[in-house]
Amino acid sequence: MVKSPLQIARESYFPKLPASLKGAVKIVEGNKTESVADQADIKKMFPNTYGMPVITFEPGSESKEYPAVKVGVILSGGQAPGGHNVISGLFDGLLNCNKENKLYGFLGGPSGLTDNQFIELTADVVDHYRNTGGFDIIGSGRTKLEEEAQFDKVIENCKALGINALVVIGGDDSNTNACVLAEYFLQKKAGIQVIGVPKTIDGDLKNEVVETSFGFDTACKTYSELIGNIQRDANSAKKYYHFIRLMGRSASHICLECALQTQPNITIISEEVEAKGMTLDDIVDNIADIVVKRAENGDNFGTILIPEGVVEFVPAMKKLISELNDILAKHETEVNVLDSNKDRRDFVATKLTEESATVFTHLPNSFANQLMLDRDPHGNVQVSAIETEKLLIDMVKAKLKKLKKSGDFSGKFGGLGHFFGYEGRCATPSNFDADYCYSLGMTASLLISEGKSGYMASVKNLTAPADEWIPGGAPITMMMNMEKRHGAMKPVIQKALVVLDGAPFKKLEENREDWAMGTKYVYPGPIQYFGPKEVCDTTTHTLRLEQAR
Ligand code: FBP
Repeated sequence: MVKSPLQIARESYFPKLPASLKGAVKIVEGNKTESVADQADIKKMFPNTYGMPVITFEPGSESKEYPAVKVGVILSGGQAPGGHNVISGLFDGLLNCNKENKLYGFLGGPSGLTDNQFIELTADVVDHYRNTGGFDIIGSGRTKLEEEAQFDKVIENCKALGINALVVIGGDDSNTNACVLAEYFLQKKAGIQVIGVPKTIDGDLKNEVVETSFGFDTACKTYSELIGNIQRDANSAKKYYHFIRLMGRSASHICLECALQTQPNITIISEEVEAKGMTLDDIVDNIADIVVKRAENGDNFGTILIPEGVVEFVPAMKKLISELNDILAKHETEVNVLDSNKDRRDFVATKLTEESATVFTHLPNSFANQLMLDRDPHGNVQVSAIETEKLLIDMVKAKLKKLKKSGDFSGKFGGLGHFFGYEGRCATPSNFDADYCYSLGMTASLLISEGKSGYMASVKNLTAPADEWIPGGAPITMMMNMEKRHGAMKPVIQKALVVLDGAPFKKLEENREDWAMGTKYVYPGPIQYFGPKEVCDTTTHTLRLEQAR
């Protein structure tokens, strides 16, 4: 394998650790917990894993002897920088707990568990992947484990290998799945613990016990570098408006964080669009208004950040998408046998309510087709495939044409579309993500050794120096509520959306006008791994503003 000089240099980076993970550990248990909502339903569905206390690991005085265990690990869902460090932290942590411990990696995500595809993760394997991006050490996948037959297959495969515990590294849906497995294994007395680890670049898996998901820091820094580069280009050529759509599913955390890092002219926040009941036309009018005003100052260029999930937050579109979700789930076979997109659109239109059918049939065909694409195994619309930036460019162009005709716009408008998503998901983890992930992996090894199940590894106090970070675990049930998925109510981890009275959004709101009219771009440049700590170790604006540091 040919390695880049940076890869070679990163191999010898040793992640910074919280004081309590450097030696003997004491486990401290808090009070009983409740789920965030729908307590009675969740308690009924999770009788064995509901109500457990939050756990903190503090520096202890005596090192403990833990029994030897065999552990399986999977990477689940979309890639996020730092996954390899969770695995190396888990591997090293397990060996610290007992030299006889073994780690197996199930291949290709959750399906590896049912198909019994695995490798043993030895030092020879793990050492190649320390501090690298990607999930290629064992691969990832989005298979949802939901049938009892699948759960029983997992038990059978784990028993054959002598596995006592599983670690699921995933987002909200995968961690929900981890909790369902933990509960099932306890009910069946299978003797297999399950621990989750909070992963996702989207930043929407966070709550009072999980301050951020890993990967968000690196992905946002990668996109911000690219946005900064585009802004320099825009400010040099002065002839294009760049419409930049950013990954993040429903939540706008990535968009907001990148805006705080780069100070673009316009930032759309889906949660605000919903709160204000904005239509697509309102969004277009706002953009056009700023384009007109900037043109009056002689500026015919700019940057606009768009969260990939925004269409789901425009009330009429949200209603349409929710109806489409139900129709596509109910009529899957009928829709799939239809030959053309036109046939599918016509079929679906007959099943929609009158209001949604009007919205649907007025959308450009290509956009309507994208709304009908297959849902993912968890029932989510694949918003990454919906090219909202193109739709907005066309709509803004049409609006400006009208304004020109009426004499209200005399500038020029050239729109260019970009989508940043996959570029950031496997970037070499920033020092923050490399350190955080390694700590999460070590914490997971302790939760297993302490016999816990149905917990998510957590590391808190993340804006303080790593030495002061607080590792522990939180019961997954405390993060759950009931939501409609594939047309039925299901227990799921509640997604964290952007809070409109939270400090990160307030910061954007305060500066919005200034950034729209002035050209106040910030150019963050590439992630730095070696150098002064304010350049290399500082985490996101979001986390710093939320923790008021
Ligand atoms: P997870 O929720 O699994 O972490 O995935 C994040 C994400 O990158 C989203 O931002 C994006 O919408 C989606 O994955 C894309 O999915 P896919 O990788 O299947 O194209």
